[in-house]
Amino acid sequence: MKPQTLPLNRPKTYRVKSFGCQMNVYDGERMGELLAEKGIAPAPEGEEADLVVLNTCHIREKAAEKVYSDIGRLKKEDGTKPIIAVAGCVAQAEGEEIMERAPSVSMVVGPQAYHRLPDMLDKAVKGQRATDTDMPAIAKFDSLPKRKKRSPTAFLTVQEGCDKFCTYCVVPYTRGAEISRPYSDLIDEAYRLVDAGAREITLLGQNVNAWSGEDANGRRAGLGELIHAIARIDGLERIRYTTSHPNDMDDALIEAHGSSDKLMPYLHLPVQSGNDRVLKAMNRAHTAESYLRLLERFRTVRPDIALSGDFIVGFPGETEAEFEDTLSLIDEVRYSQAFSFKYSPRPGTPAATMDNQIAPEVMSERLHRLQARLNRDQIAFNEASVGKTCQVLVERKGKHPGQWLGKSPWLQSVWFEGEAQIGDLIEVELVEAGPNSLKGALLTPAIA
Ligand code: SAH
Ligand code: SF4
Ligand code: F3S
Repeated sequence: MKPQTLPLNRPKTYRVKSFGCQMNVYDGERMGELLAEKGIAPAPEGEEADLVVLNTCHIREKAAEKVYSDIGRLKKEDGTKPIIAVAGCVAQAEGEEIMERAPSVSMVVGPQAYHRLPDMLDKAVKGQRATDTDMPAIAKFDSLPKRKKRSPTAFLTVQEGCDKFCTYCVVPYTRGAEISRPYSDLIDEAYRLVDAGAREITLLGQNVNAWSGEDANGRRAGLGELIHAIARIDGLERIRYTTSHPNDMDDALIEAHGSSDKLMPYLHLPVQSGNDRVLKAMNRAHTAESYLRLLERFRTVRPDIALSGDFIVGFPGETEAEFEDTLSLIDEVRYSQAFSFKYSPRPGTPAATMDNQIAPEVMSERLHRLQARLNRDQIAFNEASVGKTCQVLVERKGKHPGQWLGKSPWLQSVWFEGEAQIGDLIEVELVEAGPNSLKGALLTPAIA
């Protein structure tokens, strides 16, 4: 690798561009906080920054190619290139290659090493390119600045990494082994977020329900207990968590849905396929039946719970009949919303070299049919909500004056007109349903 010899000007402004999952968004915010602590300001809207962090995702197709084209396009108003850092999962997977192929990149930093970004920047301004894709256990969180984010909704990473090794997935390689952040650190960060204005916290993890720790009394705690503890924070009104794995679900978490008012009636639980042979080949270690039974338990404690999932069509060897099992599972569950993807062979994963890779046109056709069912159920769920009253947490202004946008407890987007402020919890009646949002009518003024 050729070191860059020209020293660079110290950046005054930064921009973090995050792709991929919510954890990447969280990481992006934390990198921003680190840079802000060093006196670098967020770049004004519409202006290119002196330092751009591309916080990348490697989960599907052509992720790396997109990074190279983004790098090529970056240009400041005066025609010069900003200082470029590549972070996130592509950085982890292909760091060395990026350094070789893209001379304009000064820094490559993996998801477990980004707390070192300021040091790397010091080197970069001296003209030394730096790569850091180490995976030190937990060190990152200890050396991040205290949170200052001001927003009614906030993410809080509680668990990171994955030991499941689903045969199609890069995450165990890019994020490393499962680790849980300590209980007291999480309670502390949750208090800070609420002090700064958060009314809803979403607990994040690649397998968030694999979180485990010890509570203040030294007792073993799982995600259910952690949720109860965070629910005791005054001023915090809503708790969500994502993404769960069917095999890490425990009784306390299911019970929390029945006993905690602050835990929202929503569960994102990916299943990927409704066919047991495919699930086995994916190394999911659960069956369609065990997944359905698990959802039943949630519905028993919280009958109005909205269910969401992830699906992959066209996994190697998937037959038409096996694909139809996935459609049947969807018919049985009736998801309120869901995410679905064509299988994408990821370099280095076992599935990428399996026989019987499915033709792209077959995948497209299956995805089309699957999404038609999911859309049908999403619309039905929204229509069935009409007439209900619920609280909406106001997140932002709508397009027209006097219009506000927020989320229902079931994570539907709701817009309404009237007196409100960002951060209010407003009681509305849901009066009209569209496929992706609902219209609400104001019932009472904001609650506190
Ligand atoms: N940890 C979570 C999800 C992580 S990735 C879980 O296991 O549930 C988010 C989603 O991307 C996965 O649920 C899966 O549906 C999809 N995905 C992951 N790897 C993929 C691949 N190689 N091709 C297509 N979709 C993929
Ligand atoms: Fe990927 Fe499977 Fe881990 Fe989810 S559980 S991150 S799909 S390996
Ligand atoms: Fe993408 Fe990495 Fe998240 S691959 S989905 S950014 S864990």
